Amino acid sequence: MKAVEVIGGYPLNGEIKIQGSKNGILPVLAASILQNGVCVLHNCPDIRDVRETLEILRELGVKCEMRKHTITIDTTGMQNMAIEQEKTEKMRSSLLFLGALLGRFGEAVLGRAGGCNIGKRPADIHMNAFQKMGALIEEQENFIAAKGRLKGADITLRMPSVGATENIMIAAAKAEGVTVIYNAAREPEIIELAAFLKQMGAEIYGEGSTTIIISGVKELHGVEYTNIPDRIVAGTYLLGAVATRGKIRLHQVNHEHLGAVKVVLRQMGAIIQEMPCGIYVNGENAYRPIEKVKTEPYPGFPTDLQSILLSTLAVAEGESMLYENIFENRYLTVAELNKMGADILVDDNKLRISGVDSLYGCPVEGQELRGFAALVVAGLVADGRTRIENKGYAERGYENIVRDFMGLGAKII
Ligand code: EPZ
Repeated sequence: MKAVEVIGGYPLNGEIKIQGSKNGILPVLAASILQNGVCVLHNCPDIRDVRETLEILRELGVKCEMRKHTITIDTTGMQNMAIEQEKTEKMRSSLLFLGALLGRFGEAVLGRAGGCNIGKRPADIHMNAFQKMGALIEEQENFIAAKGRLKGADITLRMPSVGATENIMIAAAKAEGVTVIYNAAREPEIIELAAFLKQMGAEIYGEGSTTIIISGVKELHGVEYTNIPDRIVAGTYLLGAVATRGKIRLHQVNHEHLGAVKVVLRQMGAIIQEMPCGIYVNGENAYRPIEKVKTEPYPGFPTDLQSILLSTLAVAEGESMLYENIFENRYLTVAELNKMGADILVDDNKLRISGVDSLYGCPVEGQELRGFAALVVAGLVADGRTRIENKGYAERGYENIVRDFMGLGAKII
C-alpha cells in the first residue's frame, strides 16, 4: 500500500469542512434494500468502505451510482440474497446486510465479515437476536446462512453493540409484530438510522435511549436523506490541533456529537467555541495531561479516537491514564508511537502515557484505520520527517486525510 511522509513542527492553523459520516451512511446503505424503489442519499463520504458497499449492493442486483457526495440507489426487482466472502471480508459493516436481507427476503447467505484488526469482533449478539426473532442461522467457517420470516421479540443485548443494535433495527422494521431492544447502543449513528427508517415508513421509538421499540410494518418506500457529519473525523482534526498547539475551525460539524471529546480537550487546556454548524479550538496552551479517561459507549469518549488521543497525550506535560473498555486489542499503534519516542505502557486495558518533550520522525507502519490517523498526528508533532506506510487503511474512512491536514497548514508529501 502507499505511504505518506509528514514533516513535523507546524502547528495546525486554518479551517476546513468535515466529510459525511462513514458510520452513519454504512447502515443506511444496507437498510435501503428494505424498500423496493429509489433512495437518494446526500453528504455521503467518498471513501473505500462506501465504494465497497456499493459493490455489495451491485452484487445483490441493486442499481446504484455515486456522483460527488450523492448516492442514488434503485432496488427495484432485486432478487439476489447472497454476498460472497471476497466482498464481506473487507469490512465489518457488511454484517448489516444480514438484517437487511432477512428483512427484505427472509433469507440471506453472507461471507464472513472482516474489518479492522482491533480485536476478535465476534457476531454472537447479532446471531442470538435473529434467532430470537425466528431466523434459522447456520454458521460455517466462511459463511453465515440465515432463513426465516422474522417475528418481533424482546431482545436484551449483553453489551450495547452498535452494529447489533443497527442490525436488529433493520431486521425488525418489517418483522411481524413488535421488537424491543434493551441495553441498546445510543450513538448518533443509531438515531440517524432510525430517522432514515422512519422516513421510509418504519415505526420506531426510543432511539438514542437504551430501549428502542420497533413495530414492524408491511411495506417501506424510497426516500431522499442527508447523512450526518463524521464525528470521528472531526475529533481526529481537533486532537491534531491540540497536539500541535494550533488553532482550527471545522465547518459542517455537529458539535453535540463531540461532548466527551470537548471535555477531554478542555481538560488539556484547550479553548473551544461552538458555532451552529461548526467548532473552533485553540490548543496553544493545551499542555495538561489527563489523570483518567475511559473509552465507553456513547455518550462516553469514543474508542475510535483512542489511538489519536494517545498521540496527543504523548506530548502532554505529565502522565495520563487511558482505559480502553470497548475492544480487547486496540493497541497495535502503541508500538509504532513508541518507535517515535513516545512513552506508552500497555497493561491489560490500561494505557499509561508519560508525556515527553518531543517525538522524532522515523519510518512507521499504519496498522488499521484510526491507528494510521494517530501516526499522522504524531508525525505533525515530531521533529523531522515521519514516513507512514499503509495509507490504504486511512482511505477506508477518511476521504482525504492528507488534503484535510494540509488544508490546516500541515506539511505532508
Ligand atoms: C462500530 O463497530 C463502528 N463501526 C466502529 O468503528 C466502532 O469502533 C464501534 O462501533 C464501537 O463504537 C461501524 O459503525 C461501521 P460493536 P461495531 O458491535 O458495530 C463486541 C471505525 O474505526 N461484540 O459496538 O463492530 C466487539 O467485539 C470503526 O470507524 C461482541 O462481542 O462495534 C467489541 O469488543 C472501528 N459480539 C464490542 O462488542 C457481537 O456480536 C463493541 O462492538 C458484537 C460486538
